[in-house]
Amino acid sequence: MEVIIVNDYEQLSQRACDIIVEQVHMNPESVLGLATGGTPLGTYRELVQANGNGKIDFKHVSTLNLDEYIGLDSSHPQSYRQFMKRELFDAINISETRTYIPDGRPDDLEEECRRYEALIEAIGPPDLQLLGIGENGHIGFNEPGSDMDGETHIVELTESTRAANARFFDKDEDVPAHAITMGIRSILKSKRILLLASGERKARAIKRLLQGEEDANFPASALLAHPHVTLVMDQAAYGMKG
Ligand code: F6R
Repeated sequence: MEVIIVNDYEQLSQRACDIIVEQVHMNPESVLGLATGGTPLGTYRELVQANGNGKIDFKHVSTLNLDEYIGLDSSHPQSYRQFMKRELFDAINISETRTYIPDGRPDDLEEECRRYEALIEAIGPPDLQLLGIGENGHIGFNEPGSDMDGETHIVELTESTRAANARFFDKDEDVPAHAITMGIRSILKSKRILLLASGERKARAIKRLLQGEEDANFPASALLAHPHVTLVMDQAAYGMKG
C-alpha cells in the first residue's frame, strides 16, 4: 500500500484530484469508480475546476458508483444519483449516459444486484476506484462482519452508519435503513484503489488498517490483499494533532 500523508483536507483533495487527472491523461476512456459522503467533496470540487481549466476531459470517461440508498427515488435530493449530479456530473463535461449508479428503487432487488455486478464486468472494472472509509472500517456499505468475498448486494445499515449519515436528512427517521452496495470482491476487482481519509474521526480506523491484519470485522482490511492501493490521508486522520 502506498501511503501519502498531507497536511490537511485541502491538500488531500488536491492530491486526489491530481491522481485522477493523471489517470485520465493516461487513458482518456478511463472507468472511474466513485464514492459519495463528505470525504470526496473537495476532490470533486478540484476536478470541476480542473475540467473548467481544460486540465481534464471527461468526454470519454465512464463512472461506476459504489452504492445507493434503497427506497429513495433517483430524483430524491439525498439519493446518491442527485448527490453525484450536484457535486460533479452536472459541472463537468461527462455524458450522463456513461455514469452508472445502482437503482435504489428497482422492482426486483436481487435482480438489480446481479445487473449491477454484470455492469461492473461489462463497463469496468474501474481503472481507479475512489473510496472513503467509515469510522467502523466500512468500505462502500460493507459493514463489519460482511462477506469479504461478496459481490453487489443489499445491506442493512448499522446504527452508527445511519447516525453518521443523519446530517444529510431533515429527520433521523428519514435516513434509509438499507442500501445496495458493491461487495468487497467487486471493489477489489478495480485495477487501482484510491482511499481517502480526513480528520481525527478516522484516526482509529486508519490505525487499525495500518496495523495490517485482515479481519472480517474490519472490512477495509480487505484492501491489504489488493496490489495497487494508494492511501491519501491528512495528518489528523494519521492521528497527528493539528
Ligand atoms: C460512500 C461510501 C461510504 C463512505 C464512508 C465515509 O459512497 O461508500 O463508504 O465512503 O461512509 O463517509 P464520509 O466520507 O462521509 O466520512
